[in-house]
Amino acid sequence: MAQYETIQYETDGSIATITVNRPEKLNALNAATIAELHSAFRDADADEQVRALILTGAGGKAFVAGADIGELAKMGPLTGVQVSRQGQDAFRFLESMRKPVVAAVNGFALGGGLELALACHLRIASSKAKFGLPEVRLGIIPGYGGTVRLPRLVGRGRALELILSGEMIDAVEALRIGLVNRIAEPDQLLTETRGLVEKIVANGPIALAMALESVDHAATASVENGLRLESDLFGLLASTDDMREGMQAFLEKRAAAFKGR
Ligand code: COA
Repeated sequence: MAQYETIQYETDGSIATITVNRPEKLNALNAATIAELHSAFRDADADEQVRALILTGAGGKAFVAGADIGELAKMGPLTGVQVSRQGQDAFRFLESMRKPVVAAVNGFALGGGLELALACHLRIASSKAKFGLPEVRLGIIPGYGGTVRLPRLVGRGRALELILSGEMIDAVEALRIGLVNRIAEPDQLLTETRGLVEKIVANGPIALAMALESVDHAATASVENGLRLESDLFGLLASTDDMREGMQAFLEKRAAAFKGR
């Protein structure tokens, strides 16, 4: 397992937790952090024991307060493209993983921090969390997928309001517009996130992977094309022991014991 300096990577049973760990800089993402996140996502993806991921930030104040402005201030046009691409690639890897990823947003999720949360499959917010895309205040635009994912999640009008104003919203507003799935009290955030993830990973892992694949594909496919993949994956699941076990367990009124085969 790789050793990391700007993040922590821990596994507990079938759940991996990745914590961005630069609390003195409100967990701002510098180039090293982006590279370490990408590497940790690959580790989690390759580890057969890991069935789901939780992402969070260290310290009580921030999930991630954006890309590291000290580094961004030095970029030229070509390095700017590179910086954006590296973040986009890491976050796209996360989004297209076939294991559920849940963000536990424990504080500020700004700029690249909100974009990281947007690349997760589900988001649970601390009641103290704040969300925003303040890039235009710095004379730039979101560069880690924010202009692509936020409109798809909350609608174009609401997304543009956040992107153009650069203003922050609180957790209640984030829940109202569908930016987060749930709100938890700060001291309960990780427990509640873990509780949800444990319920998810009790389900058939191949079914979870295929549900993620179908939803990810449908995001860019035509309805016809999306429906075609859905029925192919639906049929493919009939080849698994897990399908037989899930249905047999239902008929026998017991909990299913899925094996991922
Ligand atoms: N990049 C680099 N450093 C950052 C950072 C970022 N995105 N966000 C916070 N920090 C650093 C601050 O510079 C400060 O470092 P210092 O102690 O060495 O001066 C430290 O984190 C604490 O932040 P501070 O601004 O003092 O905390 P605050 O409570 O007064 O304000 C925020 C909190 C989140 C409102 C404020 O830090 C902020 O606006 N951050 C930038 C958000 C942003 O524009 N993100 C998008 C980047 S593209």
